[in-house]
Amino acid sequence: MTINTKVPVAAEARFPSPLRFAGCDPTTAIRYRTEHDRVRVYPCITQELDDPETVFERAGPREWITDDPANMTVAIVTCGGLCPGLNDVIRGLVMSLWHHYGVSRVLGIRYGYAGLTPAGLEPFELTPDNVDEIHRDGGSVLGVSRGAQDVAVMAERMREFGISKLFVIGGDGTQRGALELAGVLDGVSVIGIPKTVDNDILWVDQTFGFDTAVDIAARVISDAHVEARSTERGVGIVKVMGRDSGFIAACAALASLEANVVLVPEVPFAMEGADGLLGFLEQRLERKDHAVIVVAEGAGQEHFHGLKVRRDASGNKLHQDIGELLCERIESHFNEIGKPVKLKYLDPGYSVRSAPACGTDRIYCTRLAHAAVHAAMAGKTAMMVSRWSGHYVHVPLELVTQGRRKINPGGSLWRTVLEATGQPCLAEGARNGESCR
Ligand code: F6P
Repeated sequence: MTINTKVPVAAEARFPSPLRFAGCDPTTAIRYRTEHDRVRVYPCITQELDDPETVFERAGPREWITDDPANMTVAIVTCGGLCPGLNDVIRGLVMSLWHHYGVSRVLGIRYGYAGLTPAGLEPFELTPDNVDEIHRDGGSVLGVSRGAQDVAVMAERMREFGISKLFVIGGDGTQRGALELAGVLDGVSVIGIPKTVDNDILWVDQTFGFDTAVDIAARVISDAHVEARSTERGVGIVKVMGRDSGFIAACAALASLEANVVLVPEVPFAMEGADGLLGFLEQRLERKDHAVIVVAEGAGQEHFHGLKVRRDASGNKLHQDIGELLCERIESHFNEIGKPVKLKYLDPGYSVRSAPACGTDRIYCTRLAHAAVHAAMAGKTAMMVSRWSGHYVHVPLELVTQGRRKINPGGSLWRTVLEATGQPCLAEGARNGESCR
């Protein structure tokens, strides 16, 4: 498969980088990256190797930058929902801009794209002193908001502030806005940083904050397990975020190793019948007397019919509450068959998103932030920094915005979930020889 990995350039890099790797041991191999530093897009998936030369630009400092940093105004905006690590990214950007390059005018845009309109709150200046300790807190010191804004209006506002580099931290919708902005702004670098707790962005190994989300959700699954195991016929249900992608549910289930059933949006399931969820629960309770179900919020939408579609401010479909539905159906089914269960329902959704980042996410956030600064200083635009096959790279926003990443029901992650939980194929018709994998 051939894809266009060329990263656009907003402004020519004619100014020598002030970054001199001062203090480094001269024997280390730290050096500027050149355009010859590349990472294969398909490093090892043999099926895709029909075009082994497709490569991403490697992230990192370039020898030449666009301008004198002393005259630059740079801005940072955080959009969409919260995600662990937002403050770490903001901190990493500010520290790198100030200390590595000497940029001292860094504007924090308030409450997402709304802050780039005249109706929004005024930006405030970010300095090493006021971001020094923000990584200890969850959320974003800038605030977030959902929803697109008029691109021409935002561009005009950016011109008024004299912004020549914009860092956009957000999900696929936000990156679509960033791409449009880059298209109307002359000479301005617009650099995306991949954020969604759902881990549903294309062309990145993993979004930042996801490790933290998995850790927290896994602890809640363990709590549900303790509750379920401690009562007769105990059933624990844990609903986690995951609008259209079930990565948190799948990975938290694997991290806890206490889940018996995982339900994700990518894999529809049958409720009734011997091959359905209720039938499986009957068998499980007979055998083990307790069960734990992990459900992503977007799972099982096939069980709601004829309801009006509602959307959030970003245009995302608002799903029906599968957690509540599962509670109702499980309770009523087991009451009907005269074998009631004790049900405990846990929904850690917003607690997962609003937590401070864990250690691995902190490292990741800082590395993404530094890579983003280097890319912007070199004049790159309409691109997102990413970790791809373990390497930090530049991915054009044109690619990032082509869809959302989902669990492949035929892939190894989902297979591992089935293997680790022992859950059968709960899809309608499984008995007739249809495979789940
Ligand atoms: O950012 C993704 C996400 O966390 C989804 O999992 C969830 O459906 C959505 O955001 C909820 O966000 P909010 O309540 O802020 O609109």
